[in-house]
Amino acid sequence: LKLGIAGLGTVGGGLIEIIAKHGTKLAETSGRAIALTGVSARDKKRDRGAAIAKLASNPAIWHDDPVKLAQSKDIDVFVELMGGEGGAAKASVEAALAAKKHVVTANKALLAHHGMELAALAEKQGVSLNFEAAVAGGIPIIKTLRESLAGNAVSRIYGILNGTSNFILTRMQEEGQAYGVALAQAQKLGYAEADPTFDVGGFDAAHKLALLTSLAFGTRLAVKDVYVEGIDTVTAADIDAAKDLGYRLKLLGVAKRTARGIEQRVHPAFVPAHSAIAHVNGVTNCVAVNGDFVRDILLVGPGAGAGPTASSVMSDIVDIARGVRLPPFMRPAAKLEAYAGAAMDGHEGAYYVRLSVLDKPGAFASIATRMAEQGVSLESIVQRRPPEALPGIGAGRTPGAAVPVVMITHVTTEAAIRKALLAMEQDGKIGDKPKMIRIEQL
Ligand SMILES: NC(=O)c1ccc[n+]([C@@H]2O[C@H](COP(=O)([O-])OP(=O)(O)OC[C@H]3O[C@@H](n4cnc5c(N)ncnc54)[C@H](OP(=O)(O)O)[C@@H]3O)[C@@H](O)[C@H]2O)c1
Repeated sequence: LKLGIAGLGTVGGGLIEIIAKHGTKLAETSGRAIALTGVSARDKKRDRGAAIAKLASNPAIWHDDPVKLAQSKDIDVFVELMGGEGGAAKASVEAALAAKKHVVTANKALLAHHGMELAALAEKQGVSLNFEAAVAGGIPIIKTLRESLAGNAVSRIYGILNGTSNFILTRMQEEGQAYGVALAQAQKLGYAEADPTFDVGGFDAAHKLALLTSLAFGTRLAVKDVYVEGIDTVTAADIDAAKDLGYRLKLLGVAKRTARGIEQRVHPAFVPAHSAIAHVNGVTNCVAVNGDFVRDILLVGPGAGAGPTASSVMSDIVDIARGVRLPPFMRPAAKLEAYAGAAMDGHEGAYYVRLSVLDKPGAFASIATRMAEQGVSLESIVQRRPPEALPGIGAGRTPGAAVPVVMITHVTTEAAIRKALLAMEQDGKIGDKPKMIRIEQL
């Protein structure tokens, strides 16, 4: 099976290492020898080690243009590991499919935005379009959904889909670091980009969630319908409150079938401290699936890095070598249902609310009234006064000063909680803008 690899960076380098280390075993287990017959990257002269330098110096193998590599008669499988939603990645994947080459890619941005057209083209051409590495790196969740859980109706799929954000939240929780300090640490260790927006803003997780939603529910991709909130507004006070109240704070991607349609959402969420997902820390990812027959399963593992990601890429290549060919999104693209999304306003769940209440007569009464008007009942309410403000310890109460108050609501709707918080702001009894974090029922 002749491979052409476009992209010799982190993942491409890892893949070449696997071929070098396990070539013989792969030939035996997949029934065909796997040979590297073409490579492409931007800079031919970049130092990528001796093995890749040898490939780059061979004019029969090196291609300056990934599109030419994709069309080359010397390859059976085009492995796209360049990245990017459009550009060279899209052009070369389209060229490969048009030339009836199988495609393997780790590119979630490309698939989340163009997956439907590419899947239809692959099916028309009778070739594979495999993307195990595009979601949660080394965790085999695509195969799990496409194959192992085929006998289930999925009601919810959710998980920790971005290692950078999970690393930052873990640091905040375990070391008591402020968000900015934890982010700087992640950047220093190479877990976060200089511009971290894509990761901490929740957009990377949204791409992955869109792919999972389609596979789990048999619907067309709808990445633009994912509700996205990042972790950039999470504070140490929220992390502390989560701990005190028996929760942990995680950035979750959740796709759930409800009576109102499908919810697709990425946002910080409180999860019970005793749940398995609460203990998935650092750059580790996890994906949980609730199916009607299997019930609940949780897959945990490395969500990124050369080895884990290349391991998933290789599993896709082995499938092709073995002659396994499935529709990219499990059922034929033409049979995927239209995506019917549920508006976030109707989301039902419990909420954590943090208010900065001005120490004025009637402040609590007006908060209680606003909640009651929207039918929101409270499970707990805690006034988190700093020790120096406690009578007998420090200076005591300062009338008019803001006092942090944390509340946990019973299950309510997003619309109700938003209306109640807006009314409180308008009443002028609270200081800063109220903070609200969803609690995920596990
Ligand atoms: N890194 C991970 O842990 C991870 C995990 C899951 C999925 N992924 C996905 O895997 C893909 C690759 O990621 P990566 O981390 O390996 O990226 P990377 O280290 O930045 O490598 C990208 C490679 O693509 C080459 N390239 C970029 N544009 C090109 C063009 N126009 N023509 C030819 N070659 C081009 C680069 O060439 P030069 O070397 O010459 O610059 C480089 O070798 C992305 O889609 C990413 O989202 C990565």
